[in-house]
Amino acid sequence: MIAAMRYENHVLHLLDQRQLPVVETWLALNNLESIAQAIETMVVRGAPAIGCAAAFALAIDVQGFADADSFGGYLPQFHRSIQRLGQTRPTAVNLRYALAAFEDLAKTFESKTPIKEVRLAMEDLANSLFADDLATCHAIGRHGAALALGQRISVITHCNAGALATAGYGTALGVIRAMHAAGHISVVYVDETRPYLQGARLTAYELEKEGIPYQLITDSTAAYLMQQNRVDLAIVGADRIARNGDTANKIGTYGLAIQCHYHGVPMFVAAPWSTFDLDLEHGTQIPIEERHPDEVRWIGKERVAPASAPVYNPSFDVTPAPFLSGFVTEHGVLRPPLKAAIATMSNGKGAE
Ligand code: MRU
Repeated sequence: MIAAMRYENHVLHLLDQRQLPVVETWLALNNLESIAQAIETMVVRGAPAIGCAAAFALAIDVQGFADADSFGGYLPQFHRSIQRLGQTRPTAVNLRYALAAFEDLAKTFESKTPIKEVRLAMEDLANSLFADDLATCHAIGRHGAALALGQRISVITHCNAGALATAGYGTALGVIRAMHAAGHISVVYVDETRPYLQGARLTAYELEKEGIPYQLITDSTAAYLMQQNRVDLAIVGADRIARNGDTANKIGTYGLAIQCHYHGVPMFVAAPWSTFDLDLEHGTQIPIEERHPDEVRWIGKERVAPASAPVYNPSFDVTPAPFLSGFVTEHGVLRPPLKAAIATMSNGKGAE
């Protein structure tokens, strides 16, 4: 089974995704700062996986805290740790969701709550967020498989929203896995996803390992494929979805959505309910991370541009809701009008 992380004996083991697909190296991290840096440097990435790694970082932080016997003594460090993790990557809201779960748990402690009790509760919370995400991905896969309408279809995806981006199985790739298991996939077109190549390096790696038929394409090939009627469906993940359905995902998703719209290819976003940010009315409010210029100037160890070429490198873009055919969540598929569907879900009512 492909996994991005495992937590054992107060140590978080992370598969170093920067090295994939060439080598599979695991890093063993036993303190919060090293995990925060692993998130920043993309050892671990993908919205739900970032949230899970941050949860384990907090569980590890309190295990290592030896300066007081009760929660009150740990509280100042707890606040600093939450803040440190919150600064790692700004766009994926799952990170904030995980940190908020810990803050809610902290509110249930008293100053004199024994630190031993806090350690156990925080470890339980991290483990349960991880287990929930895995179950959620399987549920997304089950709901999404129905989008094939019982046919053998070709699907296009962007970036990596797979086992490596979650607690396992994946969101968009979870749907593709479930479709493949049901015999509904003819081919998956994998956008290489410049500049960081999550499609070429990670999605192709996952599909190859699992024997799911795929073809790797450059990002600029997608429109041409659609013009030839070779794409039946697009499915991507998300980092944050505003209340009106506007969706932030890996840079290039918006371009893909415009191409799908023009060519009449339905485009779905697969995402857990924890990726919906109901505090934001629309997508322009989503903070977009800009990453280092060298990600564009270099491909792996090769420099492909002048060393000081001025670069604009937003890591995400926002697809306006009208370009989307729906959301595949663990609760079911939400269909347009998406703003109303999201409101209905947030009021505790079901999806399709
Ligand atoms: O910069 P990354 O690799 O963290 O970006 C990942 C994506 O954009 C994914 O599509 C998204 O986080 C969903 S992962 C289930």
